[in-house]
Amino acid sequence: MIAAKPDQVFQDLGVEGAPLLAALHEEAFQGGEVWNEAEFASLLSIPGTEALVVTLEGQPAGFILTRTLLDETEILTLAVSPRFQRRGLGRRLIEKIFPKGQIFLEVSVSNTAAMALYEACGFVRAGVRRGYYQDGSDAIVMTSKI
Ligand SMILES: CC(C)(COP(=O)(O)OP(=O)(O)OC[C@H]1O[C@@H](n2cnc3c(N)ncnc32)[C@H](O)[C@@H]1OP(=O)(O)O)[C@@H](O)C(=O)NCCC(=O)NCCS
Repeated sequence: MIAAKPDQVFQDLGVEGAPLLAALHEEAFQGGEVWNEAEFASLLSIPGTEALVVTLEGQPAGFILTRTLLDETEILTLAVSPRFQRRGLGRRLIEKIFPKGQIFLEVSVSNTAAMALYEACGFVRAGVRRGYYQDGSDAIVMTSKI
């Protein structure tokens, strides 16, 4: 018998999703700059901020958080639980927001996995923000279009 392809379900979450987003963020960022429930609730209360969660095999697996202002959308964060990484979910979450138009993001110079993902999705490097992160490391600015 051939196993059925596991279902991927995508769902928009509002402020009520803050605890789930915080839990997934902590799993994915493991010891990095983890955002807590209150921070997610605060972010989601700002107009234009949207969270899209993906569930795989009935379990929350990852999410993307974006903020759209006029015609530009910023990826505030993207997280896939280590249990579900390298199964195409990060790419699918990014593809889901492409209809929003021009997209940009900051990614740590040391985050080679995320940079590889964004480049695989067609993003290009547009600049550097020096000392952007709490640990003093630089961020690369990437954009879906120049
Ligand atoms: C970055 C992250 C979101 C990737 O999610 P993912 O679901 O594993 O990514 P995908 O399976 O969709 O990967 C798509 C492509 O991206 C690239 N990629 C993803 N993870 C990679 C890794 N660890 N090393 C190298 N390339 C990687 C590959 O080209 C991959 O295609 P392939 O699997 O066919 O080789 C995930 O590793 C994560 O949550 N990391 C911790 C949080 C984080 O860094 N978020 C981004 C902040 S800007």
